[in-house]
Parts: sequence; structure tokens; C-alpha cells
Amino acid sequence: MSISYTELANAVVQKMPVYEPGKPIEYVAREFGLEPDSIEKMASNENPFGASPKAVAAAQAALAEINMYPDGGTILLRDRLSKFWGLAPEQFFIGNGSNEALMILGQTFLNPDCEVIYGEQAFVVYKIMTTLAGAKAVPVAMPNYCTDLDAMRAAVTERTRMIIITEPNNPQGTASDPEALIAFAKSLPEHVILVVDEAYAEFSSKAADLRPLIAEGRKIVCTRTFSKLYGLAGFRIGYMYGSSEVIGLMNRVRQPFNVNLPAQAAAMAALDDTEFVEKTLRGNAEGIKTLYAGFEKLGLRYVPTQTNFILVHVGPNAGTVFVELEKRGVIVRPMKGYGMPESLRITVGTLAQNAKLLAALEAILNA
Ligand SMILES: Cc1ncc(COP(=O)(O)O)c(C=O)c1O
Repeated sequence: MSISYTELANAVVQKMPVYEPGKPIEYVAREFGLEPDSIEKMASNENPFGASPKAVAAAQAALAEINMYPDGGTILLRDRLSKFWGLAPEQFFIGNGSNEALMILGQTFLNPDCEVIYGEQAFVVYKIMTTLAGAKAVPVAMPNYCTDLDAMRAAVTERTRMIIITEPNNPQGTASDPEALIAFAKSLPEHVILVVDEAYAEFSSKAADLRPLIAEGRKIVCTRTFSKLYGLAGFRIGYMYGSSEVIGLMNRVRQPFNVNLPAQAAAMAALDDTEFVEKTLRGNAEGIKTLYAGFEKLGLRYVPTQTNFILVHVGPNAGTVFVELEKRGVIVRPMKGYGMPESLRITVGTLAQNAKLLAALEAILNA
């Protein structure tokens, strides 16, 4: 055969970056001959306290109807979100993870004539959705690990269709000043859609409320996820809120039954589970303190976080430290792919996980 599949693939696909997920526990167990149960995954910002028990019970009950298609219009969940946020049900797009909502937004609005502005070391999905549409990526530097709103504003042209910012940022953990963000949103011209990825907003003390600006008719959409605070990453469910017009257009693009039945049930129950939410936020805040103290004791610099993970600088041997941590049963995320080869991103864990990570780090750095 002289023609490869790659040659036949769409030109945009040939340029697509590949999303590299955190290494699964089973993979690391096999690689280093470890017991899966002895491994702690602190790589993908999942909830270390498990999932909302109410959500799990609701999903289990929903399995009784698993022979049926899920509600393709996600009516009950959008009603529930409507009450939660004080927005109309038509203002919510429910996705197979907020990731899907972002991808559908890209498919709905981007084409090769468009430019998309986002942070240079931003979440890689923005690059994927931009590249897939054949649109031009306009990466903007992130000085001090922060979103540079002024530089983003200065990068706007007639062709800018979207600006995507993450509040707070992944993998940096930083957040913009809410007032500066609101002023920035107000400064944008009408042809630009501001996308605010709020995957970690519930952990942040600096989250801006953009609903009044959406109500004014400004072109702003925000994404949220059930994967982090609510501990439902495995169900793949998240959402976007914005004007009913933008959501209506996106609904034309999605699959008819894009969100599975137990996930919808779990998400609704999770929203009501304030006890689990509080437990997670409390545990995360304690974990952050423990990790800061541990890093300081080891003389490691880190970026103060508004999220459930911390970017820590371990130096030029970060790649080795990453592998040595794996050997000791702790999976974290190396940051070379994000242009930060000296750093690791570490999900805040339970008390036991944080202690294991810090002990392993100490042993590696002192070796
Ligand atoms: C910044 C950011 N946005 C979106 C997502 C995707 O989340 P979901 O699980 O809802 O697809 C993640 C997941 O890690 C993320 O870090």
C-alpha cells in the first residue's frame, strides 16, 4: 500500500495536538510491578474524597432504566440548574463533560477565517478545538503564571471570534481579579465571544459572577463541570451557561443523546449534596495548607493556588522526580508538555495521600 491513512486524513487532523491524560493507576502498576491499591493518583485533579454519595445512589437507581435512552433534552437537569443559578433552563447546554461543551462551541462558531485567543500555557483542549476548526490560534504569554487580560485585549482583531480564559487557570492555579475580569469582558467588541472555563471556580475565592453581563446581552459563555467538586469525573458530565441563543445553536450540533442516563441522575443529586461539597472544600483547604508547609520545608517554590491542585517547581530534574514518584506509587503530572519542564502539577489529596507524596518527595530530593 503506498497511501497511508495519515495522507488521507483531513489537513486539520494532521496538525492536531494529542491530549495526554494523567497516567492511569493500572498502567503505572504494571510498569513498576506495584499493587494498584498501593498507588495514589494525584495527576488529574479528580476529587480525592470520592463522589457525592447521594449522586452515586441516584445513578445506581437510574440503572433500573438503563434499557431506555436518556432524556436527550436533559429537561430535569436543566430545570435543576435553572433553580441553582437563577437562569432559564434554555440557558444551559449539558455536555459529556464540559470538554464536550467546549468542542461543540468550537464546531458551532469557528472556521478557518477566525482567530482564537487563549493563554500560552492554557488547558490543551482550547488548542484542539481551534485546530480542528482550522481556525488560527493566537496564544498570549502568561507572565507570573497569570492570564494577561491587557495583552489579550490588545491581541483582538476583526477576525477574533473567541477569547478563552480559565478561571482559575489550569495548570497554574491562578485566578484573575474579578473586577478586572468584568472590566475586560465589558471592553470586548460584539464580534468576540468570551469563553470562561470555570472548571475549578468552586474552589476559588476570586470567582467573578458573569451572569449580570450575560443578562445584558454580552457575548459570554461559561463552562462548569461535575468532574471536580462533585467527584463525578468518570460519568463525563458538565455544562455551559450563556444566552438561550448561543445554547440553541450549540444544541443543533450535538449528538441527540450526548449525556448518559446515570450521569444525568447523578448530577442532579450532586447539586443537592451540600454536605459532600462542604467536605470536599474543607478537605481541599486543609490539604493545600499541608502541601504548602511540606513544599516549604523541602525548599520547593510553588504557585499559590485557587484550585484543587498546585504547580510546584522541582527544578531541572523534574522528569526524573516524576518517574521516581511513580516508582514510589504516586502519580503526578509532569509539565514539560505545557512548556514548564521544571514543574509538576500535583492534585491536592487526602491527608494520607498528601503525607505519602511529601514523604516520597523528601526521599527523592535527599537521595
Ligand atoms: C480547565 C479545564 N477545563 C475543562 C476540563 C474538562 O472537564 P470535564 O471533565 O468536565 O470534561 C478540565 C479537566 O481537567 C480542566 O482542567
